[in-house]
Amino acid sequence: MSVLVVVALAETIRNFTGKSQRSPLQMLYDNHQLENSAVQASLLGRRHLLEEVCRSYTRKRRVLTPEDLRHLVVDDEHGLLYCYVPKVACTNWKRVLMVLTGKGRYREPLAIPANEAHVPGNLRTLSEYSPAEINRRLRSYLKFIFVREPFERLVSAYRNKFTRSYNTAFHKRYGTKIVQRHRVNPKARSLERGDDVSFEEFVYYLVDPRTQREEPFNEHWERVHSLCHPCLIHYDVVGKYETLAQDSQYVLKLAGVDSMVRFPTSGKTTRTTGDMAAKYFQNINPFYQKKLFNLYRMDFLLFNYSTPAYLKLR
Ligand SMILES: *[C@@H]1O[C@H](CO)[C@@H](O)[C@H](O)[C@H]1NC(C)=O
Repeated sequence: MSVLVVVALAETIRNFTGKSQRSPLQMLYDNHQLENSAVQASLLGRRHLLEEVCRSYTRKRRVLTPEDLRHLVVDDEHGLLYCYVPKVACTNWKRVLMVLTGKGRYREPLAIPANEAHVPGNLRTLSEYSPAEINRRLRSYLKFIFVREPFERLVSAYRNKFTRSYNTAFHKRYGTKIVQRHRVNPKARSLERGDDVSFEEFVYYLVDPRTQREEPFNEHWERVHSLCHPCLIHYDVVGKYETLAQDSQYVLKLAGVDSMVRFPTSGKTTRTTGDMAAKYFQNINPFYQKKLFNLYRMDFLLFNYSTPAYLKLR
């Protein structure tokens, strides 16, 4: 059963409910008081490009259902909607949103344990609201998303879920199936534990038509296009992992909370880079490289990521 949701254009700026202060959305579209015009210009460029690509690649606009809105985190205090994409600093954004919506319960994002940030119910998502409430928020809140080079994100998901011994839930749920289907003469131990999946086997799993016929991709490797519906929801800010600190600061500033909370800058050294992604892909047969690229193509196009030079596509 689909509930009709009318997506109004972001330009329809409404007064923010009950507050004399201007909303983040108003700040964005009436922005002469914000300095940093270089950041602003690049964000505007990204938004226009996204609209262009949506216009040329999507034939028919379908209607949003509440199910489509499960990844949109709501901050009613500040008028923010954040679509979270796993492997793109989403733990830190959820922590920041817990500080912002926590009514004083939390002060410092990094003091919130990572697993707590992912507990369903600690943050509200847009799918929990009625159609009228959904529409009002889509119209008047600042909608933002953070994206990342699609294959860096994919390699990061693989490394995190399949090469870390503690992720036994993923090994059991996905690893055992991948070994069973995509390995010739698997050992009994691997079939049972699913803890030694190679990147190559993971790629076979992704491009196998059976995989998506059976169930949607897990959110860690699902495409942003399918998680956040960027052609149906008009995101006001498209932040990038490559400029994470700057873009996050910009969103916090629009929300008027940049003095209250700082976006955590990670000192992680295990971060997946483009060079690292290139290494993982060098063992992948060009036929499968091409299939995989086609699978993630919309994410490359929508967010202006160029085709990685290390791919052998012809
Ligand atoms: C798209 O990417 C290219 C190359 O990285 C860059 O020069 C250009 O400014 C980007 N366009 C937009 C609209 O962000």
